[in-house]
Amino acid sequence: MKATAVAHPNIALVKYWGKRNVALNLPAAGSFSLTLAGLTTRTTVKFDKGFESDMVMMGERAVGGPKRDRVSRFLDRVRAAAGIQHRATVYTHNDFPTAAGVASSASGFAALAAAASRALNLDMDTQGLSVLARLGSGSAARSVYGGFVEMLPGKRQDGSDAHAVQVLPEDHWDLVCFVVLTTTGEKPMGSTEAMTSTAQTSPYYNAWVDSVPRDIGKAKMAAMKRDFRALGEVAEHSCLKFHASAIASDPGILYWRGLTVELIHHVRRLRETGIDVFFTIDAGPHVKVFCQAPSRSAVRAMLQGLEGVGQILEARPGPGVQIERPDGSLEPY
Ligand code: PMV
Repeated sequence: MKATAVAHPNIALVKYWGKRNVALNLPAAGSFSLTLAGLTTRTTVKFDKGFESDMVMMGERAVGGPKRDRVSRFLDRVRAAAGIQHRATVYTHNDFPTAAGVASSASGFAALAAAASRALNLDMDTQGLSVLARLGSGSAARSVYGGFVEMLPGKRQDGSDAHAVQVLPEDHWDLVCFVVLTTTGEKPMGSTEAMTSTAQTSPYYNAWVDSVPRDIGKAKMAAMKRDFRALGEVAEHSCLKFHASAIASDPGILYWRGLTVELIHHVRRLRETGIDVFFTIDAGPHVKVFCQAPSRSAVRAMLQGLEGVGQILEARPGPGVQIERPDGSLEPY
């Protein structure tokens, strides 16, 4: 009744922002992402009849409060599917700073879903696993798969058709993603609360949701053709549209700091000098910068040269969720 899974975060190139059902984490529209190797979450789940309550360890630290409750509620779904009551111990470790705003909930819930379902021997394919991971965090559904991934919003009320699919494998295109940390400041507003506020109060919300399917079509085509400029254009437009809709909420939701804006200008300047590069920003102040492998060193040097820039993490396209064998090697879920 024990299993270990490994998963990677993903970065959306066409963003997910808004839910058609909050309780089931059903997205209002699809999204399109790249799963990243180089940043890893490793999670072990052990169920035992003798445990009195769920325990969650993040690194060396026991987690309590709302974070633990969220994991516990998620495990309740897995227990219900297996028809058992056993409590669990969850050990999870990220090899990247959790405060980095690199979708640790995506890799976290993908790894948790995989380890928990495998520990209880649930008969589940990757599509079922993606549906399960979605219930923990919308973006986690995408981390089940490697490479370029599309999230399907689905139509059904029960969410059984709202899952991710792989569009292109991780070896399709040698892209580099730099995660540029801009601040160690206070925690931004959580995505569920912010999405709800945007949907209820932003005059641009419906226009945003309506624009997503077309952007997904463009992004998929650009990725298939390895057309970096076309992918950059749609990714930056999707990012700025999602932030514009959040900023226009009442009260406004503004994730950017001064350095975030400086980095947007910096990336645009780099592009004017002939270097192919684009940015995207999630629900936080940090900036993700994409380039192709041959311009990796030049882009890193230019990002480091900007005043105020902190740590820069580096990632490449990576695989979907994997299960650890007893000898420590990994196999696809
Ligand atoms: O999965 P959540 O609920 O943390 O939402 C993720 C939202 C964004 O990161 C801003 C966009 C995305 O598609 O990942």
